[in-house]
Amino acid sequence: MISNVSYQSQDICFYCRSYNQMIGNYPENIAMYHFNDNTPRCQFHWQYQCFTCKNQVHFNGISWCYNCKIFSCISCSKEELVYETFFIYDYYYRIICTNCNTSLPCLDYAEYNATHPFQLGDLKPTENINIWIPIGVDITSSKYPPNTFQGRHRIMNLGKQIEKINLNLLNPISTKEVWDDLAEDWIKVMGDTGDLSHKYMILPDVMRFLELHLDDVVLDAGCGQGNLCRLISKEVQAVYGIEQSILLDEAKRLESINSKSINYIKGDILEIGSLYEHDFFDKVVMNMVLMDLQDYKGCMKNISNVLKPQGLFVISILHPVFANPPAMSIRIPNDSQRNEDRLWVIDDYFSRTAQKIFILSKPFIVFHRTISDYVNALIENGFIIEEMSEPQATEDYVKQHPRFFYLNETRKPNFLIIKARKK
Ligand SMILES: C[S@@+](CC[C@H](N)C(=O)[O-])C[C@H]1O[C@@H](n2cnc3c(N)ncnc32)[C@H](O)[C@@H]1O
Ligand SMILES: [Zn+2]
Ligand SMILES: [Zn+2]
Ligand SMILES: [Zn+2]
Repeated sequence: MISNVSYQSQDICFYCRSYNQMIGNYPENIAMYHFNDNTPRCQFHWQYQCFTCKNQVHFNGISWCYNCKIFSCISCSKEELVYETFFIYDYYYRIICTNCNTSLPCLDYAEYNATHPFQLGDLKPTENINIWIPIGVDITSSKYPPNTFQGRHRIMNLGKQIEKINLNLLNPISTKEVWDDLAEDWIKVMGDTGDLSHKYMILPDVMRFLELHLDDVVLDAGCGQGNLCRLISKEVQAVYGIEQSILLDEAKRLESINSKSINYIKGDILEIGSLYEHDFFDKVVMNMVLMDLQDYKGCMKNISNVLKPQGLFVISILHPVFANPPAMSIRIPNDSQRNEDRLWVIDDYFSRTAQKIFILSKPFIVFHRTISDYVNALIENGFIIEEMSEPQATEDYVKQHPRFFYLNETRKPNFLIIKARKK
């Protein structure tokens, strides 16, 4: 075993620590390897040398043969996936001994199974470490579900937490409560005309996609404090705004200041069908709203009903791949203010759940679904998609607001904007 970095006596092995968090009473060894990254490790949880290729391999990629007294690694032999729960995992690998062809568990499962060479006494650690022996331990007491904690949650613990919410427990009006609660802070951040994301990244394409004409009748569904309504009202015959939360009071207040005539209604987007006549609007826009709605398909159906044939439906949403969820960012070091130290991790794209994220440091619920879910729902509700946009910050934007745009908005899209036409 090679130690490639210097010893720092105060660090605990990151596997020992996670196992301790999972099952309690797990002995926490001092870490002696890998101080340069976030996962310093003890000798038990370090690397072992493959008998065949002589490479040092992570303990979860190598098996020990107690007959031949040799290690076989993933690169040198066949392996097999076994679905079995242990610790907080729900599977492990077995690797065939390169000498005698016996199938043997990798050392993570071997440890749990008490067949790790250190536990068997086949090998002696060269460092002074505590060897865990699974006797009298309630390994079913783990507070984490299998298969999630080890990778995703650990990474998220370094950065931003995303909590999944059981859809069955969700109160149908909870998003209204969330927005009522957020309103005060939201108004401060958005001001009269929207924040930097709105002004630079979202609204230019939304306005272009709307193809506004002076005789248009337009609905802004989920209009918030009305910034887009006010923008649109300059270019069309009539604007309607529907909004569930107290943000609408702010919209009305700002309207009287600017003396624009906008038809605001406090209500639920899912009731649009009963509030307005069929084929009433030339255009409907939903600006950063659809991911708030659990019943996005019902919403599209309603909108299709109130839109005239050939009418436009313009949607902007948090990008389903690159904005949260399922993407989350970690900063290493986590107090770094340089954006290249912000690493984006994408995981769990197929999980169509409600997730709790934080907006303006208040808990907030968004519903995640895939890009094809959105596209197919539009198609099912009689729309043809004419254009999509994934806005990227320009050099000019970066010049004006480097900390906001540089790397955050230049290397991946945070928003997806869709222009759809009713058949
Ligand atoms: C991210 S804000 C966007 C507000 C505004 N469109 C803008 O771009 O500034 C989402 C808004 O959608 C509203 N909303 C979400 N679900 C709604 C529903 N079912 N009926 C009415 N409004 C809804 C929320 O109350 C919130 O004001
Ligand atoms: Zn350890
Ligand atoms: Zn090997
Ligand atoms: Zn063997």
